[in-house]
Amino acid sequence: MRLTKDLAEWFDHRLQLGQPIKEAMQHPVPRRTASWAYVFGSASLTVMILQFVTGICLAFVYVPSAGQAWTSLQVLNHQQAFGWFIRALHGWGSNFMVALVLIHMVQVFLFGAYKYPRELTWIVGVFLLLMTLGMAFTGQVLRFDQDAYWGLGIGASVMGRVPLIGTPLVHAMLGGPIIAGETLSRFFAIHVFIVPGMLIAFVGVHVLMVLKLGVNEWPMPGRIVKRSTYLKEYHDLTHKDGVPFVPDAFRKDFVFSGIIILVLVFCAAFFGPFGPTGQPDPTIVQTVPRPDYFFLWGFAGLALLPPNLETILLLVGPVIGIGFLIALPLISGTGEKSWRRRPLAVLTALVIIISLAALTQLGTYAPWSPVMDAWSSAPVPPKLLAGRSALERQGAVVFQAKQCRNCHALGGEGGQRGPALDTVATRLTGDQLIRQVLQGRGNMPAYGKNLSPAETTALVAFLKSLHPPNQAPAQDASLVSVASPQTSAGAGKP
Ligand code: HEC
Repeated sequence: MRLTKDLAEWFDHRLQLGQPIKEAMQHPVPRRTASWAYVFGSASLTVMILQFVTGICLAFVYVPSAGQAWTSLQVLNHQQAFGWFIRALHGWGSNFMVALVLIHMVQVFLFGAYKYPRELTWIVGVFLLLMTLGMAFTGQVLRFDQDAYWGLGIGASVMGRVPLIGTPLVHAMLGGPIIAGETLSRFFAIHVFIVPGMLIAFVGVHVLMVLKLGVNEWPMPGRIVKRSTYLKEYHDLTHKDGVPFVPDAFRKDFVFSGIIILVLVFCAAFFGPFGPTGQPDPTIVQTVPRPDYFFLWGFAGLALLPPNLETILLLVGPVIGIGFLIALPLISGTGEKSWRRRPLAVLTALVIIISLAALTQLGTYAPWSPVMDAWSSAPVPPKLLAGRSALERQGAVVFQAKQCRNCHALGGEGGQRGPALDTVATRLTGDQLIRQVLQGRGNMPAYGKNLSPAETTALVAFLKSLHPPNQAPAQDASLVSVASPQTSAGAGKP
């Protein structure tokens, strides 16, 4: 007992940490601030620490190489003792952390806690949100499965739209022109070194500011924040009617963090780890590529936008959104704090929450990632088979087996991601159809590796039969002397 005390004294004499820690623990906070509404920040911190611990455990086994990443996840899932559980904890922890950080931000926004003198605390918090999302995205890539592949593809296509420097940006992100081994190394470095390092630094500053400036008081309607008087008012409030942070406020933080960890452990044990889904391959469309839930809204938004608006919104949207968040405390750094007297703020928060929730809900099904069972087994409409040759009917079977209808409608039924194909033969010639199917284009994956020559021949024969009876199929304009209107329209397509 004496020895421990002596040791502690020896260290404290040199570190000089005892006093500041004691002060931080006992600093007075407003009585009503020791409330259940104020527990989300500390819970985010708790989950972050858990993420560091589980992440380090995973890094012992994970191999950041394109050839082995997927296999090493299988080893974790099936061979390593408790590997699946650590993966599940880390995956669910990521979801929990994003959710907690978002709730924390909404609470801080509604309680006016970003106002003077806590503007910088909020701004650092905005960066913490971005880093949390960055961790979530890069983590999903490390899974290097189907979802990761498609997620990266979309990320790259967003980057590629940046004017002038788009291509170099994509190269920097992927470590080359395509998604390959270098891509994985890059994301590994970002996920385990760069962003966590920044996270630790920013969280440190964030928490330090919370301690130095004091926890926000409970917002009272009519208690206006003025730069000239606020600090004195806050000081009086905490010293006349304050309670020590430990144990009064800390108790609720502690209990809530404990509950969150319990729920997290339950989710991990009950629902298990995320993926990995199939090996990454763009032509295997049987998996439903889908991002983790917190990116679903963006996914759905993109799928629903008219294509000519996509680039603008993709590039300008985030800049405006982040700019607004950063500027918020600088624009409205004083004034009313209570949400009861800030109808516009409440309305803004509601509109944003409801739109994100609605888009997230939409993102879980069509049109971006069609519900695969709905159409994949649906037969080609009989109308399109009547009077067709054996080869063309064979092609219809290939069309059905390869689940082209997940993205393409026939007879008004099917996915909306690609164009309806009922009259595709009037738009594309046989050669163009072959190229489209084998090489893919735009958002359509290439089927070259997944179709035998016989299947391709049959499939294209079927596609070539898809034109109204009274309208001729498209032909190559260079091979016919007199071009009909449809011919030139079809041949004009690249
Ligand atoms: C993952 C969704 C997806 C799947 C699966 C898919 N396609 Fe596509 N397809 C598209 C998209 C998107 C386009 C539009 C391409 C573009 O951006 O230019 C397209 C275009 C086409 C076109 C050209 C249509 C036109 O009017 O220009 C043809 C033909 C076609 N696909 C055939 C097929 C066939 C055959 C299959 C099955 C082997 C198939 N597609 C599977 C998404 C898909």
